[in-house]
Formats: sequence, C-alpha cells, structure tokens
Amino acid sequence: MNLNDQRMLAEVLIWMYDKINKSALSSVVVSNGDFCRVNREKCSMGKAMIQILLRSEGEVQFKKFQVILLFAVLFNLSAMNAWAAQGQWASFIYLFQKSDALVDDSSTIGLANKISQISTGFSNDFKPQKGKTDTIHYIRVNDYLLKGESLAGKPFGLIRIESTDKKILDRYVESLADLVKDRFRLEARFAVTRQLNYTDADTLQRLKDNAPKRGNGEEQPNVVVFPLSKTAAWWGQTQEKRQNYFFENPALFGKDHIGHNGVGFKYIQHIFRKLYHSRFIDSKQDFMTYFEYADADASTFDALLSGLRNPGLNQEWEYVEEKPIVYGKRMATPEEMLKP
Ligand code: HEM
Repeated sequence: MNLNDQRMLAEVLIWMYDKINKSALSSVVVSNGDFCRVNREKCSMGKAMIQILLRSEGEVQFKKFQVILLFAVLFNLSAMNAWAAQGQWASFIYLFQKSDALVDDSSTIGLANKISQISTGFSNDFKPQKGKTDTIHYIRVNDYLLKGESLAGKPFGLIRIESTDKKILDRYVESLADLVKDRFRLEARFAVTRQLNYTDADTLQRLKDNAPKRGNGEEQPNVVVFPLSKTAAWWGQTQEKRQNYFFENPALFGKDHIGHNGVGFKYIQHIFRKLYHSRFIDSKQDFMTYFEYADADASTFDALLSGLRNPGLNQEWEYVEEKPIVYGKRMATPEEMLKP
C-alpha cells in the first residue's frame, strides 16, 4: 500500500470513526510503521500501517473501531491501489483482416460470441474494477498512423489483456489465434509494468497528486496505443545522463527545455496513462504506452504529443523511434469491436 492509498484509507477511517463515536479526529499521520495508535495507546493490528491522532480526549469505542479498521484494511487495500502495480503483464493483440477473408455482420456476430466465451476469466476493463489484475479491453480502431501519416492495412480491432501471470496471456493469444484464423492474422505485442527509472521523490509526489482518476469507457471513450523504441545512442548513455532529459535543463539543452516531465505535467490531469516496458521481452518495441481520455480532451492529447515531439522543449524525443499508433474507442463487447 503506497502513501496515497494510506491517506485515502485514513480518510475513510476518520469518517467512519466520526460516525461511530460522534467525536472528531483532528488529523491522521500516515507512515510505513507496522503499528496503529488509538487515543495514544499502542494497539497491535498486525500490518495496519496508519497512525491516527485524536483531537477528542473522550472515551474511544475502541472495540467497534478495531473491527471496522480490520474490515476496512481487508476490503480496501487492493481496491484502493490506483497506482500502477509493477509486474503487470499486458498483451496488445492486433487483429488484421486476411486479404481473402470475408468479414460481414453475420460472420462477426458468431466470432464475437466465441471471443466472449474464451474471455470469461478476465474482468472487462470497459468498466474498470479496482483490484482486478486479469483484465480485458476491446478497442475499435479508428486510425492507424505513423508520425501523423495514415498507414495501409489498419487493424480491424485491438484487444488488450493484462495479467500478473504471463502464461495466462500466452494461452489466451494462442486460443484467440486459433479461433479467428480464418479471417484474421494476429500480431501480439507483449510488455510489462516496471519500477520507475528517472523519477525523483518530488516528481513521484507530483505524479501521484495529479494523476487523473480512471474513467469508464463511457466517460473516457478514447484510447491511444503507442509502441515506441529508443535508439542505441540513448541506451548507450549513463543512467544519470538519460535522467537529465526528463527535467527542465536550460544549461544542457537550451532555454526552452522543460523535458518530458515539464511537457507531461501540463496535461497530466486530463489523460489517463500507463507505461509498459518491452525491452528484451518483445523485439518489436522497447515500450508500449497506453492512454485514455474524454472526447473533450482529444486536442489535449494532440498538444501533449506535439510538445513531447518538439526538440526545443524535449530533446529526449530525438532518441525515439516511433512505431504505428492506434487511435481507437473503448468498446464494451467483442461484437462492438468487430462491427464492420
Ligand atoms: C500525460 C502526461 C505524461 C506524463 C506526466 C509523463 C511522465 C513520465 C515520467 C515521469 C516518466 C519517467 C518514468 C520513469 O521514471 O521511469 C515517463 C516515461 C516515459 N513516458 Fe511519459 N509522460 C506523459 C506522457 C507521455 C506520452 C504522451 C508518451 C508517449 C507517447 C510518453 C512516453 C513515455 C515513455 C516511452 C517513457 C519511458 C522512457 C524511458 O524509460 O526511457 N509519456 N513519462
């Protein structure tokens, strides 16, 4: 449970405590100590990681509170972990129509039903549920662009599946390939979420404070799936040098340079983002980047991308090799994804 989760949980606890005791708690100090403290008495609550300071000196109905605390800890830990977990595998499965295949309404309905059947083990990410690690998301593809230019042979649809167990993804891709083989050729791109490499404590706090809440497919219907790699010249630099590119650094890179973070923080509140690493996992790209946003924020995403691509603002992009970008819509069912 990270600091933000602890804070959220602490807020819930204060609210519940107020309801039971009709007395107010002044503040909550969250820390990563393995203890909790009620009315300045130490209490052993296993791994509870929240310290609560009381304003009221009155009687504490500790027993009731203890039960609720335990309940809240048990039921909320996973649910509140909005921050991307490490070790979350993803496969982005592109469905390309075979040139001789007929794809019409009636054929896609049957196929969509079969896809639904093999996907029952995954939670549908159109309406994301907290704490779920095995998820599936159906994406209807609108545009397929390389550096702003439309590419021929745009995918018919794209499925993103996630799991903490890569074997589950491998098995799914295999079953899907078999299921759709008469009409579609699959291309699966694999990646995993990892620890941060270039983020200092202040930046991490800013990221946590500003990251938007994830919406469902109706609130934030737009998706961008953007694979990219970095050049050998990038990977040949030291960690310290690579980190410089993420920060404002006029001395090194010119007066306008605000870096990847400077550009990103202008728009962060409007765009849900997830970064996956593929280097040494899938040779097609070094990273898979994934974004969701509301209709009203379509131009925000364009501004974000053109800011990152601007070498005056962000020299990191000089080392980026862009791969084809999918612009699409989140769909609730395979049928909607495949509708011709
Ligand atoms: C929404 C605004 C954005 C913010 C606040 C943001 C922030 C960040 C931060 C803090 C990192 C460093 C992660 C680390 O420490 O390892 C990072 C890495 C990265 N971001 Fe962004 N970013 C944003 C948008 C984007 C966009 C639009 C793209 C691509 C189209 C992108 C692609 C990447 C990639 C590929 C990395 C990994 C770089 C590397 O490890 O070499 N980001 N981003």
